[in-house]
Order: sequence, then structure tokens, then C-alpha cells
Amino acid sequence: MVIGITNLKGGVGKTTLTLNLAVTFAHQGKRVCIVDADKNQNSMEWSGARKASLPEVIVMGCTEPRALSKLVESQKEIYDMVLIDGTPDLGEMTTRIMLASDLMLIPLLPSGHDFRSMVLLLQRFEQAKGFKPELPAYFILNKFDERLNFHADMMDLLGQYDIPILDAKVKSRIAYAQTGVSGMGVLEWTDQKAIEEIEVLAKEVLEKAAQYQLN
Ligand SMILES: Nc1ncnc2c1ncn2[C@@H]1O[C@H](COP(=O)(O)OP(=O)(O)OP(=O)(O)O)[C@@H](O)[C@H]1O
Ligand SMILES: [Mg+2]
Repeated sequence: MVIGITNLKGGVGKTTLTLNLAVTFAHQGKRVCIVDADKNQNSMEWSGARKASLPEVIVMGCTEPRALSKLVESQKEIYDMVLIDGTPDLGEMTTRIMLASDLMLIPLLPSGHDFRSMVLLLQRFEQAKGFKPELPAYFILNKFDERLNFHADMMDLLGQYDIPILDAKVKSRIAYAQTGVSGMGVLEWTDQKAIEEIEVLAKEVLEKAAQYQLN
């Protein structure tokens, strides 16, 4: 199964959620590969810091949009899960990620929305659905805080599209920042709430995948 994690806005948690889902799936005994499609190569960097004694998460870089689908196709044969860490670039990579994915996850922050980048992302999604009508997509609320309301305009915009928000929410926690720079996932760290949260998220993602018979 191929999961694309993308949003045209930077810093929303694409890499953090990619790494943590990958680590969680690896601990479940799945063979997991991340394709890092962002020029900054943050997942690749994370992989460089990861200890060999931890469950294996292979990370490969691919920043050439036209090379993506071939790479992903070949990795699908080898790995149970291929996760694509997306790019905030406005270029063609985001469309390529959508076309290469079986399931899309779109992280959102509850505040600081970039309306224009969201409009562009949703346009790309509609375009991709022209080629791939069955492309399930879900928003994930990252750095979730129940005290912060979603901006009404953004809610209106999101409401026009058939993209539900996952029940599982990810809160702002030191564990994500700390493990992100030390080659780990929160599952391998000491914050029990973060561990539970990521397990709930991974479970819901697998349930959605099963719903579309992607496993
Ligand atoms: N839930 C969270 N709690 C605490 N810190 C977080 C959380 N999610 C992300 N971060 C931190 O926020 C920063 C941006 O996150 P991340 O790199 O995952 O975003 P991104 O969407 O991949 O950004 P870019 O577009 O630059 O690649 C990182 O320093 C990360 O550690
Ligand atoms: Mg990133």
C-alpha cells in the first residue's frame, strides 16, 4: 500500500507524521519504506540518525517528479507499506505523489492557515481524481488543541470537498520534535500519551485502508 502525506504548506507535520507512522508500522512487523520527495530531504536526514538496532525503516530520496511513480511501483513489490513524505513545492511533484498513492493524508494545523496553498492543493487533488477517481484522502489535525477553533473560512473551503478529517488527532508534544532529530519515532521514546496517540492514528489509517481494500 502506498500512502502519500502531502500539503502545499510547509511545517504542517508531513515529515513528522510520515516518520511516526512508518516507525509504528515497522514495530507491527511490516516492511516499511519512506520515499522522501522533498528537496530538503528531512526524512533522509532522520534516517541517517536512526540506530541500526531499531526496527528497520528504509528511506530513499526522490526529488525528480517524473521518476517518482516508477520508484514507488518498484518499492511496492518489496515493502508492505510505502509512505511518501511530500513537499510544499508548488511544482508537479504534489500531483505525482497523488497519482502514485493509494491513500492520501493531508496534515493541517488548527491555526496559521495558508488559504491560497490549500486552494491549490485541493485543485491538484481534483485534477488527480480525473485520472484516479478512487483516491481516498483524509485530513489529519496536527498540533491539535481543543481550545483553538478552525478558521470559519477554512472550514467552508474544506467542506466543499469530499475529504473527511480523521478522528485521531495529534497534539503538540516535545516527543515529536525530540524524536524527529534523533532518528526515532515517539513509539521509541518515553511519552506514553504520544505513544498511545500515534498508535490510535496508525490504527485508524489502517482501518481506512482496509475499507478501500488496500491492505
Ligand atoms: N505534533 C507535533 N508536536 C510538536 N512538534 C511538532 C509536531 N508536528 C511537527 N512538529 C515540529 O514542527 C516542525 C515542522 O514539522 P515537519 O518538519 O514535520 O513539517 P513538514 O510539513 O514536513 O515541513 P516541510 O514542509 O518544511 O518539510 C518540526 O520541527 C517538527 O519537529
Ligand atoms: Mg517535511
